Amino acid sequence: MADISIRQVRKSYGKTEVVHGVDLAVATGEFIVILGPSGCGKSTLLRMIAGLESVTAGEISIAGKVVNDLEPHERGCAMVFQNYALYPHMTVAENIGYALKVAGLPRAERLAKVAAVGSSVGLTEFLDRRPGQLSGGQRQRVAMARAIIREPAVFLFDEPLSNLDAKLRVQMRHEIRRIHNQIKATSVFVTHDQAEGMTLADRLVVMNKGVIEQIGTPEEIYHHPASVYVAGFIGSPAMNFLPGQISAAQRAVMLPNGARIDLPAGLAQAHDGALTQIGLRPEALTLVPAGQGAFNATFDFAEETGPAKLYHFKFEDLTLSVLSAEKPNVEPGKPMGIKVQPDAVHLFSADTGKRLGAKQAVAEKVMA
Ligand SMILES: Nc1ncnc2c1ncn2[C@@H]1O[C@H](COP(=O)(O)OP(=O)(O)OP(=O)(O)O)[C@@H](O)[C@H]1O
Ligand SMILES: [Mg+2]
Repeated sequence: MADISIRQVRKSYGKTEVVHGVDLAVATGEFIVILGPSGCGKSTLLRMIAGLESVTAGEISIAGKVVNDLEPHERGCAMVFQNYALYPHMTVAENIGYALKVAGLPRAERLAKVAAVGSSVGLTEFLDRRPGQLSGGQRQRVAMARAIIREPAVFLFDEPLSNLDAKLRVQMRHEIRRIHNQIKATSVFVTHDQAEGMTLADRLVVMNKGVIEQIGTPEEIYHHPASVYVAGFIGSPAMNFLPGQISAAQRAVMLPNGARIDLPAGLAQAHDGALTQIGLRPEALTLVPAGQGAFNATFDFAEETGPAKLYHFKFEDLTLSVLSAEKPNVEPGKPMGIKVQPDAVHLFSADTGKRLGAKQAVAEKVMA
């Protein structure tokens, strides 16, 4: 049983503060993914939990106990890194069982545990090999097994899959999730890959420049991004953004060229006159004949993604993309109508970048 509580944690290197007062509560058994671009402070936060970096201000507790002044080995965390640093001269079994050997566990017990953990990560037939005789994915599994065998209360992962090719990454992602479902250790996983974060996490923590922008389930964050930043970072292909102004009288958000996108009444009422960034996901737009959509855009080119094509358009001096599995009748340089699902319009304040929600919806959310 180990929950993690991070309260107003800050980190400075010299005079430069790189983590600016982070609050995060991780429940026992939860799988949390910290997501954000390079340099935003993900590893620093993780290393402070592990005890590999000191905390400049604030408090970190694990299982109800403040760990600020505890050594890494006193915290009950196991960390899996991108470079898993296996001992090259030891077999897989010896690598996995090394911590138990150091702890003085009798040989028979040790071997039984190595066999059990090795089998749980699918390494049974590789136990006698050396790391140099394994594929990247197999080595990653040895690193996982080495962490699992210590039965840590908390697993910390720092981009453990970055060195693997695309296909193996997805495979290992599934294995990590499967192993988590089995052993249910509290886990914090750091990545800059939004697809990896979306698929692994119970809850996602989106970071930007040393602060947390949003915490929520992948579904909440995808459907209700709290800011332009989160909206643009989560989802692939990326969300489109157009400038607009909300009109309660029109019950719509008006584009600069006079075109309109209908809004739910509550939303338009709540923010009459506000200047916005309108967020439209490529998968929430439909192509219709010119004149029949919310507005027209000029077709530019298309990209194959496999199950659907991504159609790129020009709209005024902006670009816009639409994901469609149908075969629309498009011609470069010719206009098409863009139809928008009213419940798929995201609005963000042009000033603050924060999400503009219907007041009622916000109130309900707080009460729930
Ligand atoms: N030892 C250090 N001394 C000074 N600055 C540091 C040190 N370690 C990290 N930083 C700075 O702190 C900021 C956060 O770094 P951190 O490694 O946490 O980023 P990250 O989100 O993990 O990035 P990446 O995705 O590239 O791994 C960066 O600006 C980095 O340059
Ligand atoms: Mg990092």
